[in-house]
Amino acid sequence: MTQDELKALVGQAALAYVVPGQWVGVGTGSTVNHFITALAGMKGQIAGAVSSSVASTQRLRAVGLAVREAHEVDSLPVYIDGADEIDDQGCMIKGGGAALTREKIVADLAARFICIADASKRVAVLGAFALPVEVIELAVPQLQRRFAAIGGRAVLRVGVLTDNGHPILDVHGLQIGNPLALETEINQWPGVVTVGLFARHRASVCLLGTPQGVQTITY
Ligand code: 5RP
Repeated sequence: MTQDELKALVGQAALAYVVPGQWVGVGTGSTVNHFITALAGMKGQIAGAVSSSVASTQRLRAVGLAVREAHEVDSLPVYIDGADEIDDQGCMIKGGGAALTREKIVADLAARFICIADASKRVAVLGAFALPVEVIELAVPQLQRRFAAIGGRAVLRVGVLTDNGHPILDVHGLQIGNPLALETEINQWPGVVTVGLFARHRASVCLLGTPQGVQTITY
């Protein structure tokens, strides 16, 4: 099976976690795009989707689903999103698609985070995928020095601004043994909007697409 077929498999499997009659939180990315296609089949059975990006909003509307933004709901039973890496505790690196801030906001509203990913995303230690960090532009050099001090090489993502109008630093060379501690530390640094470490908002369940089928991992 191709990586895209594995993404489609878990996108379909995630429907089992959608609560009828309720709003569902929807992430961003190529795996989520498969989920949105599948979710269109539940139109009429759910209230609609709370979106984490302009791109997902457009796609949700295109398939005829009602969309709300994060500030329009108080809570959600479930948030469904992909990841760039996920470890054995359900901690994730996210933000490869530059949607990390709104993803974290919507995830924070949800009782459960269901991660959908192909098997290549599962790692023992986070960090081979460069850690995305959404930042305030004038803090870029200062933050690059801070990352260098902890062994990271923070590279500005060229030609990309987030939906919130901010640049992204991709931090290479980190081996993240304690994701919660690093997330907490980076969150203190002035100029950081959002770090793409999801440890406080780690997955409750991962639906992992493997050539043998969907593996369900509960944390
Ligand atoms: C977007 C994300 C995505 O969930 C992550 O990049 C995975 O994307 P894909 O499903 O395309 O592999 O965090 O900001």
